[in-house]
Amino acid sequence: MSEAIVLDIRNLRSHFFTAKGEVPAVDGVSIQVPPGKIIGIVGESGCGKSMTAMSVMGLLRYPGRVVGGSILLDGRDITHLTKKELSQVRGNEVSMIFQEPMTSLNPVYPVGKQVREAILLHQKMGKDEAKARVLDIFCAVGIPEPEKRYYSYPHQLSGGLRQRVMIGMAMVCRPKVMIADEPTTALDVTIEAQILQLMKKLCEEQGTSIILITHNMGVVAEVCDYVYVMYAGKVMEQAETFALFEKPSHPYTQGLLKSIPKLDEKAERLYTIDGVVPNLLHLPKGCSFCTRCDQAQKRCFVERPCLYETAGSREAAGQGAGCQGQASQEVGSREAGCLEAASHGVRCFQYEGGGKLDE
Ligand SMILES: Nc1ncnc2c1ncn2[C@@H]1O[C@H](COP(=O)(O)OP(=O)(O)OP(=O)(O)O)[C@@H](O)[C@H]1O
Ligand code: SF4
Ligand SMILES: [Mg+2]
Repeated sequence: MSEAIVLDIRNLRSHFFTAKGEVPAVDGVSIQVPPGKIIGIVGESGCGKSMTAMSVMGLLRYPGRVVGGSILLDGRDITHLTKKELSQVRGNEVSMIFQEPMTSLNPVYPVGKQVREAILLHQKMGKDEAKARVLDIFCAVGIPEPEKRYYSYPHQLSGGLRQRVMIGMAMVCRPKVMIADEPTTALDVTIEAQILQLMKKLCEEQGTSIILITHNMGVVAEVCDYVYVMYAGKVMEQAETFALFEKPSHPYTQGLLKSIPKLDEKAERLYTIDGVVPNLLHLPKGCSFCTRCDQAQKRCFVERPCLYETAGSREAAGQGAGCQGQASQEVGSREAGCLEAASHGVRCFQYEGGGKLDE
């Protein structure tokens, strides 16, 4: 593994063991997160984005569990930690912002005290010092009148302010990685833009890496360095953001991008991808996208494609012999370009000519 990867998710498999059968919610997902970068995970509802995040956080609950693969945080496998070890990692080294802050904030406890608890849990610090730290982070995330807001209950704050509190709580221990699961879907577009810029700024200033889960390709284009497109529990395409938008290669990604309305094009009807996401209990035998793919061939219905590297993607991303060592020293988009993750991978037989990125 390259030194320049802070979180290395390798061939992760998380299944739910239900009365109807085993549901492969996360089915061999590999994601590499370099320091100080924003990694996007996109895909339709039910494709496994949140379950990937929950697996990293050790938050999968019965009947779900991690059944294979590894999650390396700075080289240490955190897949099978004890509860005590996990509580040291969670919130401290890896933190998470959930979609709806009301569900993650305690309604009967002032928000400032909740953030202070997160500090006291993980760091040796007196209550006064911890409170001062909370007020600092409230300022940093743009909460006006932090002293007053410290004693506010969640219901006394607007949705935007609650989300800022959640970001403050997630960032206050200066984690290595912050996972943000649809952090702005409940907010209006102006607040959404502010929150995204805020996350980007904090990420740059503190060197925290962010995994941003979203349905919104516009959000991805605006803030992400690298993107993973998921479908039915698998990564279908992965590429640097610019490469993905410039040359979407998987038929699913092409469909997702085509279905975004464009101001400069008059269309009678918006493009939609026909069909629905398959039931994970009854996946097609071949490519999981075959029932909806307008480019499907006979073999797509009986054989499973691997993740193949597109021709020339490594060269385009600045990959080359000896590049790995350089990666740990450089900062900027070239750094990601030197990592294995920077290659453009597509799970489709049309790219079979490239090297395999998984089995
Ligand atoms: N408690 C559960 N029992 C059985 N299957 C589950 C359970 N929770 C999740 N799943 C399965 O995991 C799959 C992935 O769910 P996940 O929440 O990761 O989707 P998602 O990509 O985050 O979707 P969304 O965009 O709607 O948040 C679901 O399609 C479902 O089949
Ligand atoms: S492997 Fe076949 S069905 Fe799957 S995306 Fe490629 S062309 Fe479509
Ligand atoms: Mg989700």
